[in-house]
Amino acid sequence: MTRIAIYPGSFDPPTRGHEDLIRRSLALCDRLVVAVATNSSKQPLFSVEERLDLLRETVDDESRVSFETFDGLLMDFARRVGAAMVVRGLRAVSDFEYEFQMALMNRQLNGEVETVFLVPAVDLTYLSSSLVREVARYGGDVSGLVHPAVGAALARRFDAGAAR
Ligand code: PNS
Repeated sequence: MTRIAIYPGSFDPPTRGHEDLIRRSLALCDRLVVAVATNSSKQPLFSVEERLDLLRETVDDESRVSFETFDGLLMDFARRVGAAMVVRGLRAVSDFEYEFQMALMNRQLNGEVETVFLVPAVDLTYLSSSLVREVARYGGDVSGLVHPAVGAALARRFDAGAAR
């Protein structure tokens, strides 16, 4: 039986923290579907297609990983792809309440899917997409925090913004 896991999120943009989680998740499953949510209430910096491309560039060496988008409920998407596991990262205590609520609600919606929490590499625990966006917006160096393709996309986005 093929064990399929989903790693869902906004990935706006993907960071080295996401990459770390993707690689760690592969120890737990045969196939990992990295799933970009299209119906997030947040106003994204990058379009869904841009985020998919950046994810593909960030992890381009793992044949067991695929990248998809999903609309609507994560648990409906899990049924569609035949996943038995959802992977989420837990960085700090502050993540816990939101993640715990989401895991329990997801179980309510689909009791056949388990949520598994993974802890990122210690030097990436402070990292988040929102912090990366903020640092890049004000011209800070994000080169250690994201793949070079993501760094270049951020620079283009904020340069273009400044030129307008
Ligand atoms: O990276 P994020 O923004 O923390 O990811 C949150 C995400 C996309 C995983 C979550 O909002 C989600 O699963 N959205 C899909 C809608 C859904 O199923 N909501 C009910 C979850 S309790």
